[in-house]
Amino acid sequence: MERTLILLKPDALQRGLAGEILARFEKKGLKIVGLKLMKMSAELAAKHYEAHKARPFYPGLVKFMTSSPIVAIALEGIGAIKICRNLMGATFGADAAAGTIRGDFGVSRSFNLVHGSDGPEAAARELGLFFPEGLVDFEFGAYRWIYDPDEELKKG
Ligand code: RTP
Ligand code: MG
Repeated sequence: MERTLILLKPDALQRGLAGEILARFEKKGLKIVGLKLMKMSAELAAKHYEAHKARPFYPGLVKFMTSSPIVAIALEGIGAIKICRNLMGATFGADAAAGTIRGDFGVSRSFNLVHGSDGPEAAARELGLFFPEGLVDFEFGAYRWIYDPDEELKKG
């Protein structure tokens, strides 16, 4: 099983799309193992977007992400990182394919509704930043029907 960090960005909450976006991940078969409404501090934004520090869009990105609350979500599943990135779609709403979150709900180059970790190292780092207290472990009965227990769950 793999875990990933998803953020519902300020535009998702302000536009009343938080539930709808969370539902897409949930309906796909991902298990929610962390969920938190929070305001992102400047310090947390600086750590989270460390890799983008030198980019021209960085100041605007930090301003946007700290402007209004976000929802931090930890999701689990086999191949969760890639599955979530596929559900999100291309970075900019105008380019994102229909059927994806960004493709269906946005058109902006900066307000793109959702963040998802882009690889296993980023996921581990980002989950540590947003859920320093750890994640919630529980038996998720649906796994038995989301995956083939004799094949996928044995390996996962
Ligand atoms: P994310 O990190 O939010 O999941 O999105 P991503 O991997 O698709 O995009 P990334 O390249 O990591 O960029 C992080 C966020 O910075 C903003 N951005 N703005 N105006 C621009 O040219 C520009 N480029 C990136 C977006 O909010 C993007 O999600
Ligand atoms: Mg990224």
